[in-house]
Amino acid sequence: MIKNSKYWFLLGREPKISAAEITAVLKLSDSTSTMLSENILTTKAEVEPKLINRLGGTIKIGIEIGTKIRREILIETIVTELLAIDGKINFGISDYSEKLSSHIESLVKQIKLTLKNSGRSVRYVRTDKDGKISSATVYHNNLTTKGREFLIAKDGGGFSVAKTLAVQPFEALGRRDFGRPGRDDKSGMLPPKLAMILINLSQASTNDVILDPFCGSGTILTEAMLMGYQNLIGTDISEKAISDTKQNLEWVNKISDFRFQISDLRIECCEINDLDKLLPKQSVDTIVTEPYLGKPLSGRESQSELEIQSRELGKLYVCAFQKFANVLKKNTAIIFIIPRFLSYGKWLTINCSTEIEKFGFKVIPLQTKEPYLLYGRPGQRVMREIWKFRKV
Ligand SMILES: C[S@@+](CC[C@H](N)C(=O)[O-])C[C@H]1O[C@@H](n2cnc3c(N)ncnc32)[C@H](O)[C@@H]1O
Repeated sequence: MIKNSKYWFLLGREPKISAAEITAVLKLSDSTSTMLSENILTTKAEVEPKLINRLGGTIKIGIEIGTKIRREILIETIVTELLAIDGKINFGISDYSEKLSSHIESLVKQIKLTLKNSGRSVRYVRTDKDGKISSATVYHNNLTTKGREFLIAKDGGGFSVAKTLAVQPFEALGRRDFGRPGRDDKSGMLPPKLAMILINLSQASTNDVILDPFCGSGTILTEAMLMGYQNLIGTDISEKAISDTKQNLEWVNKISDFRFQISDLRIECCEINDLDKLLPKQSVDTIVTEPYLGKPLSGRESQSELEIQSRELGKLYVCAFQKFANVLKKNTAIIFIIPRFLSYGKWLTINCSTEIEKFGFKVIPLQTKEPYLLYGRPGQRVMREIWKFRKV
């Protein structure tokens, strides 16, 4: 960590959600962070590169080495940085500035020529078609250790440039996503990255008691465990879900060298209406959950079928919050997913936040325009709204 440095966060597929996650983790405000572009957040807050392992939505972390500079100074800055490397120089450039893309080849040529004229041996690592180097390529070419990756973005009339310090642990994330033994593709499983984001949005501290009352295969619990949370409770109506969760917790514990005491965790079958019979009053600090999202859609559902399902889900969620009010301590956070469904070209939303507020909860806006964050790919029939509530 270098004091007074400016750090860059390259945001993932859902930049607004990734930015909200970083803002929550680093407790940033509008005055301590800036969006350099739609997918780059910068901050002068203190940042350790290993923070990348705790963030679900950040692809790369970099440190700024040149601010609002012209092309000639950009070349000079990159060359100076590369000349400090011992031995053969491996480098790559990821271009986040449309302005530069057509000139990138001549820029690289000039950098290589200058280095060769200084008697250095150079290898340029090519980008993908989108003009960027993937995290895997950065990792396999040692571009954060022996070599360098430079990130370039348009900034005012010039360019700003950063060097990459860390990339997302894509192999470990992929292994957790596709390798977990307890699976339920019918009920749906959260991607581990999204589970990490939800936990981070809750701003729970590591000694908090975290509950997932619709734990399914346990993705939120396994990710929380890996993030250092040890007081975890998982409940679900389904015996299979409970068995999957236990199996996945054991598996994650095994691949992380048995760091945790799984026997201390409470994973039990429980219908949401019985939650306050199972757990003592005011015994939970944080709830992070993706509840039942309704039947998987075929696309052939009529408008009225979807409306009925939405009403039923709305009732289930309000009931759940009624139970949360009993088991949660005061002034605690809930991260809760509410689905929306595509029906004949329009989004059918479940408007239950006003009802929920009647049980002593307050919506904590996660962004300025809408209180929730929207997660989903174009073309999907179901999108997830991520909501944050506080028990007042
Ligand atoms: C969308 S899944 C959760 C998936 C989970 N986030 C994961 O990544 O594996 C919703 C879960 O809610 C459970 N569920 C449905 N109705 C419930 C109820 N009334 N009470 C408790 N759990 C319920 C289902 O069994 C299912 O496992």
